[in-house]
Amino acid sequence: MVLAEDLDELRRSALAALEAVGSERELEEWRVRYLARRGELARAMSRLGELPAEERRAAGQAANRAKDELQQAYEGAAESLRRRAAGADHQVDVTLPGVPPVTGGLHLTRQALYESVRIFAHMGFTVFETNEVETDELNFGLLNIPPDHPARDMWDTLYIDDELLLRTHTSPGQIRAMRAYCPEPLRVILPGKCHRYEAVSARAESMFYQIEGLAVGHGITLASLKGVFEAYAQQMFGPERRIRFRGSYFPFTEPSVEIDITCHCMGRGCALCKGTGWLEISGGGMVHPVVLENGGYDPSDVTGFAFGMGIERTIMPRHGIDDIRYFYGNDLRFLRQFA
Ligand code: DAH
Repeated sequence: MVLAEDLDELRRSALAALEAVGSERELEEWRVRYLARRGELARAMSRLGELPAEERRAAGQAANRAKDELQQAYEGAAESLRRRAAGADHQVDVTLPGVPPVTGGLHLTRQALYESVRIFAHMGFTVFETNEVETDELNFGLLNIPPDHPARDMWDTLYIDDELLLRTHTSPGQIRAMRAYCPEPLRVILPGKCHRYEAVSARAESMFYQIEGLAVGHGITLASLKGVFEAYAQQMFGPERRIRFRGSYFPFTEPSVEIDITCHCMGRGCALCKGTGWLEISGGGMVHPVVLENGGYDPSDVTGFAFGMGIERTIMPRHGIDDIRYFYGNDLRFLRQFA
């Protein structure tokens, strides 16, 4: 095993010599001496052939290990010389401020949903979560919109099959909530995702969020809706805000209204409100007797109000956002402004 010992000795002295190397030139001299084709290692390896066959294999492996180790040590030394030349070893400046970690944030929509939930909760409303994949029956039929009703044109629908669809509004949750609470009075809001088969534009997305509101019980009138909605609008958008009702039509409410809120321009008239001083933010009305009945209530005993608003459109004016496509385009430059 003389050769193996020689190899070991060679490896140790080569590594020790490498420690002393301080320049590119010295490194090259080291390489020529130990690693080059006629270097010491190569010469030692050439003696492998003189060994008896049974020793040759182990000694050959030891030689290869020594060679790999020296090669690696050489590359490491070359790299640290290069770094030193580039000044990289001195680049840590402990007086520099640290790099702050990147943190996530709540999406603008989520923030508005939470804020709305908080406001409605103070008025006694509970969040009722309901299905995003709905039946045609709940999304339309039980809301007093039979299959051939022309009002279906108000909702361009993404169907999954003949029976299932992606809900086009949060209103089907009204039926589910009523069936869950009946015969008790109820006060719920139903926030959630809706889908429409719609050409995407600055005003319309195929996916968006709505907040539905529903109250059923004794003595509930359109004035109740007005009071609740005004309180919401003032807490959400500012105490100076006013709301107004305009007569409208929805199959599931009677009477039906559109709810407007005074514009940020405070009636002076701007591009956003097209000079009218008012912004439309929600549909609403008194729950249609047929719908109450479908929910399990007796319309001769109780009444109810309902409303449904698109949350993105409601918060767009607040931040001067003029295109709904920013919301879910996942452009961090947009999202970070609100995180
Ligand atoms: N579901 C309606 C829509 O998406 C909005 C709506 C109108 C909801 C009137 C209501 C309501 O609860 O009473 O267009």
